[in-house]
Amino acid sequence: MRLPERQLAVLEAASATDERTIDEIAAETGLKPETVTGAAFDLRDEGLLAVTETTTAVAELTDEGRAYVADGLPETRLYDAAVDAGADDAAVPLGEVIGRAALSGPAVDIALANFPRKGFGEIDAGELAADAAADPAADPEATALATLADGEAVADESVLDRLASRGLVDLAERTTRAVRLTDAGVDALMEGVEAAETVGRLTPDLLASGDWRDVEFSDYNVEADAPAVGGGRKHVLRRTADRVKDVLVGMGFSEMQGPHADSDFWINDCLFMPQDHPARTHWDRFALDVPPMESIPPELIDRVETAHRDGWGEDGDGYHSPWSEAFAREVALRGHTTSLSMRYLSGHAGAELEPPQRYFSVEKVYRNDTLDPTHLLEFFQIEGWVMAEELSVRDLMGTFEEFYRQFGITDIRFKPHYNPYTEPSFELFGDHPETGEEIEIGNSGIFREEVTGPLGVECDVMAWGLALERLAMLTTGAEDIRDLHGTLADIDFLRTAEVSY
Ligand code: PHE
Repeated sequence: MRLPERQLAVLEAASATDERTIDEIAAETGLKPETVTGAAFDLRDEGLLAVTETTTAVAELTDEGRAYVADGLPETRLYDAAVDAGADDAAVPLGEVIGRAALSGPAVDIALANFPRKGFGEIDAGELAADAAADPAADPEATALATLADGEAVADESVLDRLASRGLVDLAERTTRAVRLTDAGVDALMEGVEAAETVGRLTPDLLASGDWRDVEFSDYNVEADAPAVGGGRKHVLRRTADRVKDVLVGMGFSEMQGPHADSDFWINDCLFMPQDHPARTHWDRFALDVPPMESIPPELIDRVETAHRDGWGEDGDGYHSPWSEAFAREVALRGHTTSLSMRYLSGHAGAELEPPQRYFSVEKVYRNDTLDPTHLLEFFQIEGWVMAEELSVRDLMGTFEEFYRQFGITDIRFKPHYNPYTEPSFELFGDHPETGEEIEIGNSGIFREEVTGPLGVECDVMAWGLALERLAMLTTGAEDIRDLHGTLADIDFLRTAEVSY
């Protein structure tokens, strides 16, 4: 029998009586472990070797875990400081013990949570009493950390789980493979196996010399373990945005562009948002300390002011409330990209305005929201508008249905809504594929005459703002927007999530 050299080396290093691990064989043959693994699988396929796999849990200290091995767990430091302060005798003010323990930042909360849990003592009414009988040196979590730091294994799974939930160790699974000669393997060795020189890679030399005709090529083992390669990759959101742009361009839309920091005029006044609207207060606005915007067309300012003060159109009544040009010129981060729609519809951004027209943008907006699984301080808005002679709610709904269908979403729902700038208005909802929860995915409507009139637009305009992140949540199953964006992003998710095209 002839076998490639590396297979022969592994076969010879294997034993018929004892299991030998890949690492042992690698050490003995001088081959790399992955080469041994590949050869072992080939030999298994030939029936000459048996390969067994065992998975074991391995625990590795995190940086925080390592820091506690050096400095002690926060709760232990709290206990030691408490005993120093005599709290094993009589309760001592908590602040004093924390100060003595030199705990600060998150370590304080960690210490306070774990101290009573471990029976080190009690914390009540701002005072701490230490239990003199407690023995932090024998604490299983502390001893397990020390054992891991010495490179030894910890068998107690409940302690490991607790340390993992505290973020002090990472638990992972490791597969160990071992081989043993089969009867056929023993027979083959007894009969004698010759080494066949094999070539792993076809080189230009082999081609030029013609030697490729005579050599034996080794087989590829597509099942062999290979190190994971984390190459560069476009961010899930960027890929979703690209897809959105493709879809909208395919539906006949052109892209709008414009400033992230814009005057309140374009962000709000053009939209017939009263200047005392709650969304325009300093609570909700990211105001910028920069000079007011000068470059706003004066006749447009006049017309917008008229709409606010006295109304627009036959039945228009306006707000009859104060309107300040100075406020309109102030600059803030845009809370929606409807500011771009205003710029384009006004004719001052160079857009084609002969109906029918369709425009969109996929751009960032900024809001002073409270952070939660569906809200961040910034997100991408899919803005869009269609201008045509006669538009109805059916056109609006049909456009969304067509748009979302391109992403496999066919069950969007509409709810009547209120916007100062559209009438009628609708919010859009979809179902989260994992949690089944109904989430809001957008807001839309048909612009009021008070908006289109001052801009000089004489036909109907329907418009919307959809959240790119929510679309990405629906298409990828991400449950928390913070997994997608920002410092808490889930890197594994970003590496593996698929964006359907
Ligand atoms: N500006 C709205 C928002 O941010 C979206 C919208 C745009 C609604 C245009 C109607 C018309 O929620």
